Amino acid sequence: MNPDKPAENDIFETAQRVLPGGSFGNFPAEVVIREGKGGRVWDENGKEYVDYLLGSGPMLVGHAHPEVTAAAQEQIAKGTTFFANNRLGIELAEEIVDAVPCAEQVRFVSSGSEADLYAMRAARAFTRRDKILKFEGGYHGMSDYSLMSLAPKRSGNFPLPVPDSAGIPKSVRDDMLIAPFNDADAVADLVHEHRDDLAGVIVEPFQRIIPPEPGFLPALRKITSDNGIPLIFDEVVTGFRLAYGGAQEYYGVVPDLCTLGKVIGGGFPLAAIAGRTEIMKHFDKSKVGDDNYLVQIGTLSGNPVAAAAGLATLAILKRPGAYERIHATGKELMAALDKLLREAGIPAQISGEPPLFDVVFSPEKVRDYRTTLAGDAELLRRFNLLLRERGILKGESKYYISHAHTADDIAFTIDAWKDAIGALRQ
Ligand SMILES: Cc1ncc(COP(=O)(O)O)c(C=O)c1O
Repeated sequence: MNPDKPAENDIFETAQRVLPGGSFGNFPAEVVIREGKGGRVWDENGKEYVDYLLGSGPMLVGHAHPEVTAAAQEQIAKGTTFFANNRLGIELAEEIVDAVPCAEQVRFVSSGSEADLYAMRAARAFTRRDKILKFEGGYHGMSDYSLMSLAPKRSGNFPLPVPDSAGIPKSVRDDMLIAPFNDADAVADLVHEHRDDLAGVIVEPFQRIIPPEPGFLPALRKITSDNGIPLIFDEVVTGFRLAYGGAQEYYGVVPDLCTLGKVIGGGFPLAAIAGRTEIMKHFDKSKVGDDNYLVQIGTLSGNPVAAAAGLATLAILKRPGAYERIHATGKELMAALDKLLREAGIPAQISGEPPLFDVVFSPEKVRDYRTTLAGDAELLRRFNLLLRERGILKGESKYYISHAHTADDIAFTIDAWKDAIGALRQ
């Protein structure tokens, strides 16, 4: 019991009793957030933080943005879910089709995990093959198929997957192939070897905080196209974040399918699979018949409150200068952190793109999962903790930049970095 933190302790103790591990499973249990506004959040004791967690990404325009709040409230007063089609969901689908290069049609679900699961299933339905190739360290949610070589403790031999969780049937391993990110030659070899069984390749075009090396995504596009294998971009994080049209616009490579989440729900549970009609038609029995039909139903799919918040969020992001602002904020922060760490003589790489990055405490450039592992994870953990004490909230290995972060937030962050780096060296 910490007498300085009474309010948080009460709720913290209840959490320990009623939640496994005392948490929702996402974030350290000792942090209990009460509210957020713009680029800041407050915990149950009133401690204020500059927020780079941003709800793990969705709050790109900031917490409780007045326009997003008003849009959600207006719909809440009219009813919160109908199961049947609703106008706002249809309008959001149209906005996605207009914005995202690969999107000809959209199917809504409630989480990124679901979207990835269905995208892989759609690729299987389309090709009538079973295997999916994913990348080591690539995150595609929590399904049995996605939890293969996300974060293996010991490196497996490519392309054999290492399951990340208890409870996954052994048979799932047989249907997944694992490749190193940023290694187009390895992908080409695997595609050629497994072409007859391969239903799709799923990739985070910007894997965690690792940008694709020049030529990697175009090579993936070519290898998959040449072999008739659908390419799936997981844009749950990058969609509407790197650019309005996501990573596919930002890097100029168009997949066959993509998944979206986070930003498109404006802070509410909503995600989507989007892509070419030729593949998306498998969600429509009238187009493909019983045997090729991919049945997909979800109680809250296309929820009107989430769609209202998503549309209001996208309207803000669509205004001139929105992405310039996000990128400028991120660039300034990346450069400042890099400079501070160099001045302190701490070997480190700032990895990422301006809207999303972090430091890896390694002398070596980060290009895939294994080079990320070369980073000093304990030092990063200590740095994050020192920053949290100094009023910076962030995930384990990501700074999510918000359109709402201000010059004050940047200055506050740089001061906190200076102080925490000083403490790190003691
Ligand atoms: C790239 C990527 N894909 C999928 C997911 C899963 O999304 P959700 O947490 O909405 O299930 C995440 C979540 O962080 C993600 O980062």
